[in-house]
Amino acid sequence: MEIGRFARECGSGVAACAVRGACGTAEPEGAGCASCPALPGKGQATAEQRRSGLSLALTSVKYKLFVMSGKGGVGKSSVAVNVAAALALEGCKVGIMDVDMHGPSVAGLLGSRACAVRADEVTGRLIPVEFMPNLHFISLASMLPDRDKAVIWRGPKKSAAVLRFIGGTEWGELDFLIIDSPPGTGDEHLTVLKNIPDILAVMVTTPQELSLADVRRALSFLRTAGGKILGLVENMSGLCCPHCGGDIRLFKKGGGRMLAEENGIPFLGEIALDPAAVLSADLGRPLALCDGDCAAKRGFAALSVEVAARCRAGEAVDFALAAG
Ligand SMILES: Nc1ncnc2c1ncn2[C@@H]1O[C@H](COP(=O)(O)OP(=O)(O)O)[C@@H](O)[C@H]1O
Ligand SMILES: [Mg+2]
Ligand SMILES: [Zn+2]
Repeated sequence: MEIGRFARECGSGVAACAVRGACGTAEPEGAGCASCPALPGKGQATAEQRRSGLSLALTSVKYKLFVMSGKGGVGKSSVAVNVAAALALEGCKVGIMDVDMHGPSVAGLLGSRACAVRADEVTGRLIPVEFMPNLHFISLASMLPDRDKAVIWRGPKKSAAVLRFIGGTEWGELDFLIIDSPPGTGDEHLTVLKNIPDILAVMVTTPQELSLADVRRALSFLRTAGGKILGLVENMSGLCCPHCGGDIRLFKKGGGRMLAEENGIPFLGEIALDPAAVLSADLGRPLALCDGDCAAKRGFAALSVEVAARCRAGEAVDFALAAG
């Protein structure tokens, strides 16, 4: 689908609902959807109805993960894509939803070409892009003819786009839907948390205080929003010197584990700084699918095992309750 059409549909609010029975209209609250027969017309659909409609849209997805962090550049997109690829290699059916509208990285990290997202001609529902037969994704970057052009959207339009990704996309049956988020705690995060009640946050941090401080704020946001958290990951955790094999603590080490302990959150693992991670990102090929062995590949593989085990065991912390 072409970005112009998608943007017009998101902008109109009403047309953001290409969903039959799972209305995805955006703000203002209370606006209904004329094109959705399963919901009352304008002014009649409550926020609650729309939410339940949307959550119905993802009932065939077993586990929904929300990769977030207060900070940009800490490796959220890398974690989302590499964990997704590692799970897909294990045979899981995986989807990635990129709700970072201003800096959508998922398409690039998966080497996708422009305008790869299609919409079903009859239903208007979006068809995610196939990366592997059991790994599909949707990202605004796959709709942009020119990826260097900025996307200048205000909150309501971004929320409408997120809702369309959630409710207006043909996700099918999935074991894991991994949602990659922008930095901070803005409209996209609120829209995801409000509309996917069983979503589990995976918090990503780097070890130094500057990043930890932002993650503390993100945790406080989750507490207030009543989100559940699966655990915390420390990325860029030490660097193995390519010359002598020594441990270089470029951004320090251990801050993530300490933060997790302080907040009673499971620590999911650490991923080393690794030049191979940068190369694989630039190549558009997740590390799990690259030949050879390296520290980050091992880190992401261990992380995906931990994430899957905790999801299956139902070990998420209800953060709102835990905070008491
Ligand atoms: N473990 C790592 N080792 C080396 N580079 C990394 C690692 N994790 C992420 N990067 C690089 O850091 C940059 C930012 O990562 P990205 O995943 O886009 O962060 P975010 O989504 O949080 O903004 C990218 O260039 C990425 O390749
Ligand atoms: Mg990112
Ligand atoms: Zn050295």
